[in-house]
Amino acid sequence: MKGVILAGGTGSRLYPLTKVTNKHLLPVYNRPMICYPIETLIAAGIKEILIVSGRGHAGHFLELLGSGTDLGVKFTYEIQEKAGGIAQALGLAEDFVDGDNVTVILGDNIFQDNIMDDARDFKQGARVFLKEVLEAQRFGVAELEDGKVIDIEEKPAVPKTNFAVTGLYIYDSEVFEIIRTLKPSGRGELEITDVNNYYIKKKSMEYRILNGFWSDAGTYESLLRAGMLVRQHMQNKSVEVLLRAELPVP
Ligand code: DAU
Repeated sequence: MKGVILAGGTGSRLYPLTKVTNKHLLPVYNRPMICYPIETLIAAGIKEILIVSGRGHAGHFLELLGSGTDLGVKFTYEIQEKAGGIAQALGLAEDFVDGDNVTVILGDNIFQDNIMDDARDFKQGARVFLKEVLEAQRFGVAELEDGKVIDIEEKPAVPKTNFAVTGLYIYDSEVFEIIRTLKPSGRGELEITDVNNYYIKKKSMEYRILNGFWSDAGTYESLLRAGMLVRQHMQNKSVEVLLRAELPVP
């Protein structure tokens, strides 16, 4: 199993915090944001990790993370020339993945769960990780029926459920064939939701529901909440109040 962290994009929703640096280098409590998805992959037992970032601050990722030797892993770096969407960024990982299975994490997502068992037992198809949230309109939203995901809608105005599709996915290497078939969405991006719906249509999508806390960190409010969640967790305090506070939908 290979690991890929997607840390490209423009970070426009965090401007001016992202005027002179990359979103994934901003602090979330006591570490740069990118450290959290790295820790999730390492805790899952994944040792080969590709970091896809944009042009602007690629050198800073290298300076921060180096080769990975001190963490017992190997980092590889790839540049996404333009923010063409999450699926486009993942497409750049094809050579690195080299026919293997791949766990993908969005660089602005913070997870408490350990997914080692999922990384180990995954065989083929795709697996998404869902979390019940208050403001599902901010995310991809999964519709479930008879223990299966039957559809995912990207940021629906009226969500059919409260199950957000988090930025953590496991795919077999067919994902790269699928990405080649995608057309840009209304926002001009290759959407990871289209990749997931492709797997759903061919009945090879599974899902898990996360037990621990999860947050994105790509808006002012979610960045602040992510830091507070991490602090509460590190101090062994309850995170429930933070998770019950509804965040504004941009
Ligand atoms: O946070 C989970 C959500 O992430 C999912 O529920 C949605 O289905 C998924 O589309 C995504 O939604 P966002 O609109 O919040 O994604 P965003 O554009 O903020 O990108 C998330 C991360 O993906 C970002 O931190 C870096 C990476 N990315 C994004 C784009 C657009 C890239 O590496 N390259 C890109 O071109």
